[in-house]
Amino acid sequence: MIHASCSKAVQVCLLLLMVGRLQGRVTAPEHLKAQVGESFALTCIVVRERGESLRQVRWLDVKNQTLLTYQPGNRDSVSGQQHVELTVSPKDTSVITIQRVSFRDEGCYTCIFDVHPSGSKQGQTCITVTSQVSVDRNKTAVSGKKASLSCSYGLPEKVQQITWRHTSALGVSTEVASFAKQSDPMIEPPYQGRVWLSASLSDSQLTIQPVAIQDEGCYTCLYSTHPEGPKSSTVCLSTYVLPKPQVSYKTTSPGVIEANCTSVSRPPAEIVWNVEGDNRTMGSPVTTQLPQGDGTTLVISTLTVQSGLLKDVSVKCLVHHKGLESPIAVSMNTKIGTALTILISVTTVAALLVLSLCFCLWKCFLRKEAD
Ligand SMILES: *[C@@H]1O[C@H](CO)[C@@H](O)[C@H](O)[C@H]1NC(C)=O
Ligand SMILES: *[C@@H]1O[C@H](CO)[C@@H](O)[C@H](O)[C@H]1NC(C)=O
Ligand SMILES: *[C@@H]1O[C@H](CO)[C@@H](O)[C@H](O)[C@H]1NC(C)=O
Ligand SMILES: *[C@@H]1O[C@H](CO)[C@@H](O)[C@H](O)[C@H]1NC(C)=O
Repeated sequence: MIHASCSKAVQVCLLLLMVGRLQGRVTAPEHLKAQVGESFALTCIVVRERGESLRQVRWLDVKNQTLLTYQPGNRDSVSGQQHVELTVSPKDTSVITIQRVSFRDEGCYTCIFDVHPSGSKQGQTCITVTSQVSVDRNKTAVSGKKASLSCSYGLPEKVQQITWRHTSALGVSTEVASFAKQSDPMIEPPYQGRVWLSASLSDSQLTIQPVAIQDEGCYTCLYSTHPEGPKSSTVCLSTYVLPKPQVSYKTTSPGVIEANCTSVSRPPAEIVWNVEGDNRTMGSPVTTQLPQGDGTTLVISTLTVQSGLLKDVSVKCLVHHKGLESPIAVSMNTKIGTALTILISVTTVAALLVLSLCFCLWKCFLRKEAD
């Protein structure tokens, strides 16, 4: 808003400077650019001779139809089209504001000052409506799932074609898909079957499913517009492979256990051990990272503990990863032991109940028989 009124003021000042050298004429900028969807001000300045009076100001639109008319100094005299309003301006200056500029507003506008007695004087300003390509923020997608990238341009009337290109981290660039006026979206052969493109020249959406690690990189959407030429923007995609950690352990020497927590993921996971408030571990864990050929990394964290520890406290490996809301915990010890204990207890109790029932029945029968 502040920016808009500032540029409006600058426009008026520049025009006033130019006016100094012109007598009995109307000055208006010849050519201006207006952003689609935004408001836009048009300005004309008239220079009067001494004794002349300004009776009426008229504005004509791009089709030479009346856009707005008014008598200076008379607020009630303003009449015109809905999307245009008269803006307060200095004497002998006329400023009108188009509310939300659209493609249809492109063209030349005429301002006509009816000056008494010399007659009418007019000026003209032509506007070109422009837009920018806006794009999503950088995204992440989980390998095997879906990723959607979108891009938009406010003037579909000027777009002839939209093209999406992929640039890998190594800088290799390939065309992925395109959509042109009066045709169907075209998907390049390597992407067919797992990439889709929306049939729109304004809001373009590229969908990849399932996402693969090699889909990582930056995607440029390029709008071929006429007559302005190409306009583009870029969004980058990172692909995650989520970890599925596992714990394994073996006794290396009497009373000493070596435990490994392993995870394959992209990017590499961070592994920490949670040994419940006890420090009977033998030194801190040792972590190794082994990059795999497919872009994932195997992380192994090795912890050495006294075997007695496992009976007393829970030992957990916690795997942190950017793609996870909370870390994955893998318990190394007694979780299974506890479950087994419960199972055995339940089975035992059930067996006892059945036995006592049998015993009761048998006794009852015996009694009856005896009677
Ligand atoms: C509007 O009028 C001007 C002359 O006053 C003419 O040059 C122009 O072509 C007209 N535009 C349209 C769209 O009729
Ligand atoms: C998007 O990612 C690319 C490369 O990963 C980076 O150069 C760019 O600055 C990022 N853009 C934003 C808005 O974060
Ligand atoms: C743990 O991983 C290392 C390799 O990093 C391996 O040599 C060792 O045998 C593993 N130990 C267990 C218990 O799996
Ligand atoms: C760890 O063990 C040392 C003695 O070996 C003891 O002084 C220390 O308080 C222990 N720390 C914790 C957190 O149990």
